[in-house]
Parts: sequence; structure tokens; C-alpha cells
Amino acid sequence: MTTLEAIQTTPVDVAKIREQFPVLDQQVNGYPLVYLDNAATSQKPRIVLDAIAGYYEKENANIHRGIHTLAEKATADFELTRRAVQGFIHAAEPEEIVFTSGTTAGINLVAQTLGRKILHPGDEVIISAMEHHSNIVPWQLICEEKGAMLKVIPITDEGELRMDEYRNMLSSRTRIVSVAYVSNTLGTVNPVAEVIRLAHEAGARVLIDAAQAVVHMPIDVQELDCDLLSFSAHKMYGPTGVGVLYGKREVLEFMPPYQGGGEMIREVTFACTTYNDLPYKFEAGTPNIGGVVAFKAAIDFIVSLDRTAVAAHEEALVSKTMQGLGDLDGIRLIGTAPHKAGVVSFVSDKIHHFDFGMMLDAKGIAIRTGHHCTEPLMNLLGIEGTNRASFAVYNTMAEVDYFLQTVRDILARKK
Ligand SMILES: Cc1ncc(COP(=O)(O)O)c(C=O)c1O
Repeated sequence: MTTLEAIQTTPVDVAKIREQFPVLDQQVNGYPLVYLDNAATSQKPRIVLDAIAGYYEKENANIHRGIHTLAEKATADFELTRRAVQGFIHAAEPEEIVFTSGTTAGINLVAQTLGRKILHPGDEVIISAMEHHSNIVPWQLICEEKGAMLKVIPITDEGELRMDEYRNMLSSRTRIVSVAYVSNTLGTVNPVAEVIRLAHEAGARVLIDAAQAVVHMPIDVQELDCDLLSFSAHKMYGPTGVGVLYGKREVLEFMPPYQGGGEMIREVTFACTTYNDLPYKFEAGTPNIGGVVAFKAAIDFIVSLDRTAVAAHEEALVSKTMQGLGDLDGIRLIGTAPHKAGVVSFVSDKIHHFDFGMMLDAKGIAIRTGHHCTEPLMNLLGIEGTNRASFAVYNTMAEVDYFLQTVRDILARKK
């Protein structure tokens, strides 16, 4: 596979970046690993791995409650990450950053607090047809409990939100709108600024599922004016088990606590409990301290890159893959919106996606196959699942060439 050493066509120094990801330097089934499952989870650079080890080697202690040196160090580093996240998404205050275990946890938190507080029988929650199960089921649970209705924005054949339908759907009954910034199955980048603006005009609150967006594009929550935004560290070169729920202060203040326990309280008696200030009101129990501390290294890594160049590089990877697959007989691209980020989904008319995934794995290529936790979208499209290649900054054009050649070889064998 000499093409792996091919010259990069973009200004991102991918070879140098790859050196920072030890996991990429291995053979799988006798071939160099080509990791194209980044939408599921990205790989971690050396600085993140070192930060995890460093935390446990040098300062492991519980946070916020201790007065000894290690506890103070751990607390300071934990809070340093909060400030890094605040800067990263341009939140107005660090208190607007709540640490969770991931995107799913953040959405459930909002559904069970804001949803429980403001939804009444006959009220409506709007999501879209391309949502991940994480942004469907929490709303179904709370809508069922409160007698509210879940409405779904339809999509076009290319995989874009039907904004005309969305406009018609909004009414004084709409309480919450919750949509993905970027679809994990289609790769569509949704016009969330417009989604938010229209929802606010109707008097609704908006949660953005930014799980697939944060790693690919700069996010400014104040400019977007979203009320809430949820994402996961593990999809942005950070550790698993760490996530962020951003909320405007007034919205977080309005929301009742979610889980009860240590840290989220101010005073507890058997008669009654008062709650802690933001953000601790939503951070019950011991969090993933080492993960949060190491998450800062992931943010530092992203910030150290030229994000415009990275976006151009990733866009080039996506469009080359789209073009290459689009030229093949018997391959159908799923999700052809003009504005996409990081994800290419496709189906073959002859080969089941599970078989396709296994044949690619036999050549060292890791993709994801199945419904990608978007079963309602699959039903809508009349398919069972797709093959999904998803990209990160460390992927190369040579890997795309190798992937496309392997797809062609697989198809040729099936003729
Ligand atoms: C769009 C989207 N939302 C939510 C999630 C759930 O993220 P997590 O499993 O990290 O909570 C994912 C994960 O793939 C996703 O792609």
C-alpha cells in the first residue's frame, strides 16, 4: 500500500499529526490500520493519554471536598478544564458548563428537568427525522409522562431539514426544539442558527445535539444563541465517559436539579434540602475526574491546529470519498446534502452492510455498519442500515484511495 505515503494535498501536516496517535501505528489483519470510524469515537493523541496517566500517577484525589494538597490540585485541574470548555465554545461564564458522562446524559438531563418542568398535556417538542436515538428516546419518555406530543421535522431526499415544514410546525404549543447540528448518519450540517432563531420567535427553548459537530467546526454558543448544547469528549480526541452540557445561566437556573447526591447540595436535613450553585447543582456524585482533567488536553490539541485548514482537509477527504463511491455501479450514497461534515454513508445493491464491513476489516479498514442509532431514519429511507466511513484530522488522501480501491475490489469479486 504505497499510496499511504502519498503527498498530502492540503496544508495540514497529517504525517506529523499521525505521529501523535500511537494507536494508528499498527497492522490489522496484516494491513496498516485505516481508521474510518471516527463518528463513533475518535482516537486519542499522546497528550491525552499522558494526561490520563499523569493524573492517576501524580494527583488522583476526590475534588471539591478535600483540603489536602492532592485534592486541591485535582480540583484546580478539573476546574481548569471547565474554563477551557468555556473558551472553546465561547460560553459567557464557566458556570454555564456542566460536566456529564456524554451527549446522551446531557440530553436526558434536559428532558428530565426542563422537560418535566415546562411540558404540559398538549404541548409539543420538535426533533428532526435524522436524530440519533439519544435525541429521540429521552423526549419520548418525557412526552409520554407529561401528555406532550413529539413532532418530527421531515427531510429532503438529499438529507436536509425541510425548513418550510419546520416553520409550519412551530406554534405557541412548541415548548422545546432539539436537533442535531451534524447528522451522524448523513453527515448533513443543519442550519441550526436558523432553527434556533425560529424556535425563539415561537417562544420555545432549543437544545442542540453537537456530538458530531464540535470536532469539525468552531462553535460559538453566544452567537448561535442556543439555550442548551450537549456533546461528548470522546468524539473530539478526548476520553470516554466525559461530556458537556452547556446551558445559558438563566435556563440552567430555571431548571430543577436532576440527580440527587453529594456535591449538588448546599444543605441537607431530613426535612429538606437546598441545592448548590451552578454548575454543581447538576453534578451529583464523583465525576470522571481523570477524564475531565485529560479532556483539557484534547481541547488543547484541537486548538493547537489551524481549524480552517483542518476543516478544508476533512472536507477534501469527504468529497473525494463521495466522488469515488458515487462513480461506482451498484453503490448508492445516503446523504448528499451540499453542506456535510465528516461522514459518508453508502449502501450496495449486492452486498449487505455487515458483510461489507467485515470484508473491509479483513483489509485493515475500520468503518461502521448498521443503523447508527438512527433506526427511524433508516425506516424512512427504506433501508436496514448503511456502511459509514467517517473522518478525522489524521486521515489521509492515501487512505481514501486505499479505501476506494478496496471497495472496488470487493464489488469486482461479487460480479
Ligand atoms: C448525533 C449524535 N448524538 C448523540 C450521540 C450519543 O453520544 P454519546 O454516546 O457519546 O452519549 C451520538 C453518538 O454517536 C451522535 O452521533
